[in-house]
Amino acid sequence: MAIEEVLRTKTGIQGLDKALNGGFPQGNIVLVSGGAGTGKSTFCLQFLVNGATLFGEKGLYVSTEQNRAELAKQAAGFDWKLADLEQRGLIKVVYFDITGPDGFSDQLNKLITEFKPKRLIIDSLTTLTDSLIVSGMGEDKAFSLVQIAETVNPIPRTEQIITKNILYSLFREIKKSGITTLLTTELPEDQRTLSADGVSEFIADGVLLLNAVPVGDTLNRSILVRKMRYTKIDAGMKSYDIIESGISIE
Ligand SMILES: Nc1ncnc2c1ncn2[C@@H]1O[C@H](COP(=O)(O)OP(=O)(O)OP(=O)(O)O)[C@@H](O)[C@H]1O
Ligand SMILES: [Mg+2]
Repeated sequence: MAIEEVLRTKTGIQGLDKALNGGFPQGNIVLVSGGAGTGKSTFCLQFLVNGATLFGEKGLYVSTEQNRAELAKQAAGFDWKLADLEQRGLIKVVYFDITGPDGFSDQLNKLITEFKPKRLIIDSLTTLTDSLIVSGMGEDKAFSLVQIAETVNPIPRTEQIITKNILYSLFREIKKSGITTLLTTELPEDQRTLSADGVSEFIADGVLLLNAVPVGDTLNRSILVRKMRYTKIDAGMKSYDIIESGISIE
């Protein structure tokens, strides 16, 4: 299929949709990578709010960090009517407690089947994979492959191998649904990889990098489309601001 024919999920942020040649290819799994406070969660919220208000598309926000009240507070700072959009069934915000007993993939599958979103956020992938490593994947069926592999072949597993297995399982689950998905990942300032785990950027269909560099008395924010399958990327950093309407790219 020629890339002009690929269906696109627009972010509704003009400068970014232009850089993406129209938007994210529908069904792509995209990492939103950046340091603390670069605007990852804000961007993800905006992607769902724009999806609902501009394109009538349903969006599911699965948060492992900020709870529902905290995300509502964040949205209110931007004059986004999150409660209203939730009431109208256009957006669903779900907090997933990583310390709880529930399996993530089962919960996610249930939410996807019932709510049928066109857009999905997991904020953050880092917290989720870290917790799955610590809990030894729990009873989660989708991750049982890792356990089988271990029984068959008892080689000491490095954290990276476990992470890779978790990521493959998670990405495969999401891919089945065909939903355009954003996964946030936390990058420390000196990180040389494109994600916290150093693996997911290879599995993901795309990577957006968010930067915030203090210069004098301002914070220079910039965004880069680092990778996007099925897309002719308009390369180069775009500077952005966080204003009342959310993330704004010149
Ligand atoms: N209403 C607002 N108006 C302008 N700027 C805001 C507003 N709300 C938040 N910000 C700015 O957005 C920044 C980042 O917000 P956000 O929580 O989206 O970042 P993040 O990358 O998700 O951070 P973290 O790594 O902590 O999860 C804040 O540090 C603040 O500077
Ligand atoms: Mg955040």
